[in-house]
Amino acid sequence: MVESIGLKPYTEDVKLLRPLAPWLNMKALRQIEQRVLELSQALDLRPTLEKAAEIGELLVEARSQVQHGQWAGWLARCGLRPRTAWDYIAVANAKVENRWPATRMTIKQFLDTVRRAKFAERRAERQAERQAAAGERGKLPSNVEFVQADCRKHLWPDHIDIIATDPPWTELDAYKWLAGFAAQRLRIGGLLLVQCATMHMPQVMNLMCAARLNYVWTMAIIYSETRTVRANGRFRATWSPILVFSRGDFTIPQSLSDGYTVRGGEKNLHDWQQPIEPWRYWLDRLARPGAVVADPFVGSGTIGCVCREYGLCFHGTELDKVAYRIARGRILSHEVQSPAPDDREGS
Ligand SMILES: C[S@@+](CC[C@H](N)C(=O)[O-])C[C@H]1O[C@@H](n2cnc3c(N)ncnc32)[C@H](O)[C@@H]1O
Repeated sequence: MVESIGLKPYTEDVKLLRPLAPWLNMKALRQIEQRVLELSQALDLRPTLEKAAEIGELLVEARSQVQHGQWAGWLARCGLRPRTAWDYIAVANAKVENRWPATRMTIKQFLDTVRRAKFAERRAERQAERQAAAGERGKLPSNVEFVQADCRKHLWPDHIDIIATDPPWTELDAYKWLAGFAAQRLRIGGLLLVQCATMHMPQVMNLMCAARLNYVWTMAIIYSETRTVRANGRFRATWSPILVFSRGDFTIPQSLSDGYTVRGGEKNLHDWQQPIEPWRYWLDRLARPGAVVADPFVGSGTIGCVCREYGLCFHGTELDKVAYRIARGRILSHEVQSPAPDDREGS
């Protein structure tokens, strides 16, 4: 059939081209087969993309002329949303960068181009957000003490109520230091909430228990969307553990859920950024008013933002200069959200 209409099948594999089972409606199937082959052979997305690229080129030209702050308004006159405009520009860029095939474009090639464009767009968005946060100027509020420093060399207050932190997951030395730090600086009855990789839970537990901290519980940030990162090459993580330890006996002011479901992992400000909602929920229930909270591994400032919001006394360090400036800006510009969350569902 295929040969009779002059089209080539995708495979010469005789096993795949074996006759189909006799009870099938061969006539109908053959008609569909012929039509699919005709359509797919004739399919060429390139002319459409050429037009999209032309629009993209025009938009780039316009963008250089439109004044700062007026871009969205100007686009609206063309009937375009900013996101759509970026899609056109991404198509134009892909063409300039020679990421299109020289001849016809197949659906697979088109989808690859779209994926790459989306990736580039997300990267540009992240860059812009990080730059904006790093550019924030002003004095931090009096309840926030945040410095760029190595946490091991920083002078920390005595009698910390809660240490809430997320050390670099692969650095077990950082967890070892944290164990000693918590054993020394937490007040009796104070809590350590530490995030770690699921596969390192036993090691982290051992380190903390060796420092005479008591294991209390495991809390979880649960991701309602599947994440692409695979741990151990096999398991795709759908949750992330937060281990809770205490120094001596403890009391918790309010009961709370140990799991908090979030939609997706926002990573715009830091590659390891954690969602803020679970921490708002947990610290709202675990910290007494005016409690002293420490985060030695601040990253993008998630814990600092929550402390600022709830008027908790925050002490934090971040080693990396760029991350420090971004986190400082984020804490400075963090808007107090009200009312405080009273539901563990983030969506
Ligand atoms: C996993 S990230 C924290 C991410 C954070 N949970 C957030 O939401 O953005 C760990 C951070 O600790 C910082 N860090 C690593 N070693 C440090 C040290 N010795 N002192 C202070 N900060 C350190 C890293 O630069 C990194 O930004």
